[in-house]
Amino acid sequence: MRNLFNRMPDSLQRILVVFAVFVFVVLFIRFLIPPSIKDSTVHVRETLEREMTHPVQYAGSDVCAECHEESNLKKKGYHKNLSCETCHGTAKEHSEDPTGAKPNLPKKREFCSLCHTYDPSRPTGFPQINPIAHNPLKPCVSCHNPHDPKPPRVPQECQACHAEIARTKAVSPHVQLECTTCHNVPQNHKLTPRTVKATIPSERTFCGKCHGKEAAVKHVPKIDIASHGEKYLCWQCHYPHMPEVE
Ligand code: HEC
Ligand code: HEC
Ligand code: HEC
Ligand code: HEC
Ligand code: HEC
Ligand code: HEC
Ligand code: HEC
Ligand code: HEC
Repeated sequence: MRNLFNRMPDSLQRILVVFAVFVFVVLFIRFLIPPSIKDSTVHVRETLEREMTHPVQYAGSDVCAECHEESNLKKKGYHKNLSCETCHGTAKEHSEDPTGAKPNLPKKREFCSLCHTYDPSRPTGFPQINPIAHNPLKPCVSCHNPHDPKPPRVPQECQACHAEIARTKAVSPHVQLECTTCHNVPQNHKLTPRTVKATIPSERTFCGKCHGKEAAVKHVPKIDIASHGEKYLCWQCHYPHMPEVE
């Protein structure tokens, strides 16, 4: 046996050694480690037991609806996606003993400001204010119902929400063009911009209406639509709100 091993080429010897180690490890894990160490049910059970000893603190919004009208009001308003307990804090105890345990009433300006203070990383159109300048000294809830905050008026100008684009266009060669020359904007886009979208031009021929060689529009630089920047959309090279020619 020993001779046989010694007579083998080096490479085969190495493979055999690796193989032997592998077999040993498999057998070791299989037969020598006690099952209780490998069994995960023990760990799962212990973790569950540990977590179950923590008291439940959140009741969930459905529970509040049993006793509070506010739930119906909030469902239709701008705060529909906020849970009651986001603002009122944990209220499981209160649900079981309404008069004994009272939830928070977050009436301070600082609380609303957590979400509504201007922060450039928030998505465009998210209602933001500067709390130092926005009606200071009065609590927010004296003007806004926290369960149904309405925008007191719907902004009509595009620039109320797209200020940067409007400012850019105002100093560009396209200054004379209305936003609605290039975008169809349903009235409700101004009310719920994320569900009702404005359109964006989809074809080169759109810009060709004014810039094509054959276009009748006067005092507009003309190009040959068929050959100029062919294959690409015009706005892959020209920013439409500030078209510049170097
Ligand atoms: C079993 C009925 C019941 C449930 C369930 C319930 N509440 Fe109440 N809640 C009451 C009653 C009754 C009062 C008035 C207590 C008082 O004025 O002494 C109250 C008062 C409140 C108040 C006002 C506290 C104050 O200081 O004036 C808030 C806020 C509130 N509940 C929030 C909640 C939230 C959030 C939930 C759900 C997690 C909830 N409640 C679930 C019955 C309930
Ligand atoms: C955006 C935060 C916010 C959310 C979400 C919210 N609340 Fe309130 N809630 C408040 C504030 C702030 C007040 C105090 C209003 C005031 O004093 O004028 C209040 C007051 C209350 C009161 C006392 C009513 C009164 O007239 O004194 C109850 C009850 C209540 N909320 C229940 C609820 C329930 C139920 C929900 C979920 C359906 C909920 N709230 C969601 C902020 C919130
Ligand atoms: C946890 C974050 C959060 C807190 C806290 C919060 N809000 Fe809001 N608020 C929102 C969200 C989300 C919207 C909906 C935004 C949307 O539809 O794009 C909203 C919408 C609004 C609007 C609608 C404005 C508009 O023009 O569309 C007003 C007003 C408002 N909140 C006031 C308040 C007041 C007052 C408080 C304090 C009682 C408050 N918010 C606390 C997240 C919050
Ligand atoms: C004196 C009444 C008053 C107080 C107090 C007040 N607001 Fe307003 N809020 C308004 C009015 C009016 C508007 C609409 C006109 C405007 O945009 O200034 C508005 C608009 C808003 C908007 C919508 C802005 C947008 O661009 O869509 C938000 C969000 C808002 N308020 C949050 C708050 C928060 C948070 C507080 C407390 C820190 C607060 N408000 C305090 C009256 C008030
Ligand atoms: C109340 C605020 C508001 C007003 C007013 C508003 N918009 Fe918007 N608009 C938005 C928001 C928020 C988005 C982003 C929507 C999204 O990302 O889902 C948007 C997106 C757009 C888009 C991109 C659509 C897309 O598919 O990416 C265009 C184009 C647009 N708006 C044009 C306009 C024009 C033109 C006007 C004026 C006639 C206008 N908007 C007025 C808030 C507004
Ligand atoms: C000359 C035509 C034209 C005019 C005028 C124009 N747009 Fe656009 N806009 C476009 C095109 C084309 C796109 C698509 C750009 C892209 O996909 O890269 C676009 C994209 C947008 C977008 C979404 C992408 C982005 O850049 O954020 C918004 C929002 C928008 N426009 C708003 C406006 C507003 C507000 C005005 C008026 C101040 C305006 N546009 C004027 C042609 C125009
Ligand atoms: C309603 C007509 C109209 C439409 C549609 C239009 N433009 Fe223009 N464009 C103009 C006018 C007017 C000028 C400015 C001419 C001048 O006074 O120099 C201009 C200028 C330009 C310039 C030249 C800028 C410079 O520095 O000379 C470019 C590039 C341009 N537009 C690209 C586009 C693109 C890309 C589109 C499509 C998204 C488009 N235009 C859609 C009317 C239009
Ligand atoms: C591959 C990039 C590219 C594409 C795509 C493109 N352009 Fe241009 N465009 C340029 C460059 C670079 C210039 C400046 C040099 C020149 O005149 O050729 C220019 C110049 C222009 C000018 C000014 C011409 C003058 O005489 O002042 C207009 C107008 C114009 N483009 C419109 C368009 C329109 C409309 C489209 C879509 C049909 C478009 N461009 C597509 C790169 C492009």
